[in-house]
Amino acid sequence: MRRLFTLRRGRRLPTYQREEEVAGLRAAGRFNAQVLDFVRPYVREGAATGRLDRLAQEYIRDHGHVPACLGYNGYPCTLCTSVNDVVCHGIPGNQRLRSGDIVNIDCSTYVNGWYGDSSETFLIGDVSPEARRITQAAFDAMWIGIRSLTPYCSVIDIGRAIHRLGLQRGFGIVENFQGHGIGRMFHQDPGIPHVPLRKSKRDVLYPGVCFTIEPMLNAGGAETAPVDDDGWTVRTADGSLSAQFEHQILMTEAGPEVLTLTKSGPREGHVF
Ligand code: MF3
Ligand code: CO
Repeated sequence: MRRLFTLRRGRRLPTYQREEEVAGLRAAGRFNAQVLDFVRPYVREGAATGRLDRLAQEYIRDHGHVPACLGYNGYPCTLCTSVNDVVCHGIPGNQRLRSGDIVNIDCSTYVNGWYGDSSETFLIGDVSPEARRITQAAFDAMWIGIRSLTPYCSVIDIGRAIHRLGLQRGFGIVENFQGHGIGRMFHQDPGIPHVPLRKSKRDVLYPGVCFTIEPMLNAGGAETAPVDDDGWTVRTADGSLSAQFEHQILMTEAGPEVLTLTKSGPREGHVF
C-alpha cells in the first residue's frame, strides 16, 4: 500500500540496486571512512591544515584512488578543513590548529567509478563548553536524521527530525547548504535539506537511493556570510561557531545502511 502510494507520488531518483552497484558504493564509502581514520591521529594542536591535506591526498593516491574535491569546480585541495566559524569549504593551508579550535574535516573520494563522501568535526585540545555543545548537537543531528529513515520515507522526514533537535538546543541549522544524492556522480538528486522544505516531500527514499546527511549547526543564527574572497570559504554571518558531521547512506529494503562508518571515530551515541 505504502509502496504503491509513494512510487506513484514520488519523483524519479537515481537508484542503485544491482549487486555490483551496491558493492561499488559500499567500497567507496568504506574507503572514504578509512581516509578519515588515517588522518585522525594527525588532527591535533599545532598541525597545519595543509599538512593534513597532503597526507590525505597521498594516502588516497597510494591506494589507487582519486581525491574527488581536487579540481571539482576548480576547488584546489583534497579535503575541506573548516575551523571554528567556518561553516564549510574551508581551504587547507598554513593555518595551524590551536587548542580550543573545532575543525571539520570533509573528505570525498572517487573509488573505481563510485563516489564516497563523509566528514567529522574534531575538538582540538581544551575546548569551551559551547564548542563541545555545538559539536555534540551537529553529531546528534546527523544521527537523528539517520534514525528518521525508513524504506519509502520522504526526504522531508530528515529535515523535520533535524530541525526539531536544532530548535530544542537553541542552535541555528544552516539552510544554504544541503546533503545530496551521490553515486556515479558526486552531487545528484535528491537534495537533502536539513530543515523541512515542502518540495522534499515528493522525494521518496526507496531502496537503492544513495545520499548524504550532513547537517551544519551554528551556535548563533542559521545565516551564512557571503563567500570569502578565496571563492570557497563559507563562514557564519554572526561569527559564531559552526560544526558539521556527514555520513553517506544507502537506503535498502531493510532500512538505511550507513556506508561511511569509521573504525576509530565517534559512534552513534558518542558523548564529546
Ligand atoms: N565534501 C563536500 C560535500 O559534502 C563537497 C565539497 S565540494 C568542494 O558535498 F569542491 F568544495 F570540495
Ligand atoms: Co557531501
